[in-house]
Amino acid sequence: MAEPRVPRRRRFLVCEPRHFAVQYAINPWMHPDRPVDVARAQAQWKTLTDVYRAHGHTVDSVEPVPGLPDMVFAANCAVVVDGRVFGSLFHAPERRPESLPFDTWFKSAGFDVYRPESVCEGEGDLVPAGRWILAGTGFRTTRDAHREAQEYLGAPVIGLTLVDPYFYHLDTALFVLDDDNVAYYPEAFSPGSREVLARLYPDAVLAGREDAMAFGLNSVSDGRHVFISPGATELAGRLADRGYVPVPVDLSEFHKAGGGIKCCTQEIRS
Ligand code: ARG
Repeated sequence: MAEPRVPRRRRFLVCEPRHFAVQYAINPWMHPDRPVDVARAQAQWKTLTDVYRAHGHTVDSVEPVPGLPDMVFAANCAVVVDGRVFGSLFHAPERRPESLPFDTWFKSAGFDVYRPESVCEGEGDLVPAGRWILAGTGFRTTRDAHREAQEYLGAPVIGLTLVDPYFYHLDTALFVLDDDNVAYYPEAFSPGSREVLARLYPDAVLAGREDAMAFGLNSVSDGRHVFISPGATELAGRLADRGYVPVPVDLSEFHKAGGGIKCCTQEIRS
């Protein structure tokens, strides 16, 4: 019998996909010649924010900037732990200008913002998990950024190496279920990093390639509800078996840019 799961109210930061498009290719999902339906993207995104609010979560919004088509992926702009904002420095020159509007939003909301010197893509790769921070590297965020994050945030940072270009950010291959557990796709990690994950999380929920390719690991959990891609059916079943409540939300239009639910969702932990 699975134990009852208790949700915790979250504060999320998002950015409306008004200017969403695929205009360049910086990951294998992106094909600028394949059209994106912006109206459909906006409707899907609105559903996501409505669902968050319906589950009791607070949703704040940064004003989108024309010419920054990936700005909707708010998770990449920073990672916030105990009210400390560790900002971003994007790998791709196309995305570098996104940091400023997010930094400005955080400052006007009363937060100090640390600007990293090394390439760092916020919660895309730096994933707070209870007492420590899991940190991806291999494609975007660097080991130097992991060191900077540990120094600024004062939390242990555990580096994990990503090896599959389809899972270029840690949040495409792993998500945090609650303070004590995660779900992940083992094959996205180097052998040593797989061992680290197995040591830290002997009871983790594991996903196969099909669920991972359906953006099933790019999910958001409030400790009870898991907002998850409807394509990740097998993973949703495994989560339900463990007492979590899968809440399917379709962001398929954003998959064309290599993003899903978690990519669109920054969590403000204060
Ligand atoms: N097109 C964006 C990029 O490649 C997608 C970012 C997705 N965000 C995420 N947190 N995984 O940078």
